[in-house]
Amino acid sequence: MPTFVFVLVKADFAMNRAIFKLCSGYDMPLFGLGTCQIKESDIIYKVIDEALRLGYRLIDTASSYRNEQHIGNALKDLLPKHGLKRSDIFITSKLAPKEQGTEPAYAACMQSLQRLQTDYLDLYLIHWPGKQKLKPDDCGNAEARRQSWLSCERLHKEGKVRSIGVSNYTVKHLDEMLGYATTCPAVLQVEYHPYLVQKDLLSWCNLHNTHLQAYSSLGRTHLLSDKDVIDVAKRLERKPSQVLLRWGLQQNIGVIPKTQNLERVAENAALWDFELTTKDMERLSQLHRNTKFCWDPSGIA
Ligand SMILES: NC(=O)c1ccc[n+]([C@@H]2O[C@H](COP(=O)([O-])OP(=O)(O)OC[C@H]3O[C@@H](n4cnc5c(N)ncnc54)[C@H](OP(=O)(O)O)[C@@H]3O)[C@@H](O)[C@H]2O)c1
Repeated sequence: MPTFVFVLVKADFAMNRAIFKLCSGYDMPLFGLGTCQIKESDIIYKVIDEALRLGYRLIDTASSYRNEQHIGNALKDLLPKHGLKRSDIFITSKLAPKEQGTEPAYAACMQSLQRLQTDYLDLYLIHWPGKQKLKPDDCGNAEARRQSWLSCERLHKEGKVRSIGVSNYTVKHLDEMLGYATTCPAVLQVEYHPYLVQKDLLSWCNLHNTHLQAYSSLGRTHLLSDKDVIDVAKRLERKPSQVLLRWGLQQNIGVIPKTQNLERVAENAALWDFELTTKDMERLSQLHRNTKFCWDPSGIA
């Protein structure tokens, strides 16, 4: 069995599972399924069916992905099929930029619960530090995210959401939260891969007991053709995708690769029987070039 650098509370490597304890006291799988851009109900159903069979227990969605209803429908059928209960899986959803504000944020979460057909979310994230229709430099963005966060705290206190967090926040947005938040964010979900090693955010998270979860770990496929990634993968007789995901895991960073291809659902989960050496880790981290393949929140006031 490999020696892991991260602290796990539970692990079942045969079932592709490693569990991490959040500051909210709840456990979160370190690995899960991303669902952005999977919109068709039949594809959602097949992918979640295969993922649950292979041991995935975390599903990442968002109101803006427009697939919560399909995920809810699929889980209704698939949880009993796989002998699972709601409490066996971890569902993350996110508040869209257009839903920011006190009442809209509360109502948006209630709608996500309804579409996902569940009484509670395991994790609810503010998707983006800005509010839709406001210019990036509008100081109304700061007030909108403050109000949204306070609504998230209310949802958390009411038990509708077990853990709350934020996504795409920079250190500036996170520091600002310290002035009004009574609950520290349990999770920060940001783009993080070898071309974008966000050390400042990782340090902030380590200091405040916030878990950093990566999105776009494969750089939306761009990193799969990087020659250093391919080199490490060849030596380990693994796929470039597996090396990239493992690079995140070995830093205690959660990963949520998205695929709608059933073979890749399996490939992306086979991460527990190999290990990157310290030299591999350093080699990959040195690829950093501050490249973002998704969106850039640095200009949001
Ligand atoms: N909070 C945010 O703002 C935010 C932003 C972006 C993403 N996310 C979340 O993070 C998840 C993952 O990020 P992402 O979708 O941006 O990017 P990603 O996981 O880095 O890459 C997804 C792309 O890689 C392909 N792929 C997946 N596994 C592969 C493999 N083993 N070999 C070759 N190609 C593979 C997929 O195509 P196929 O489907 O054809 O396999 C898809 O085109 C999202 O689904 C979403 O849940 C959150």
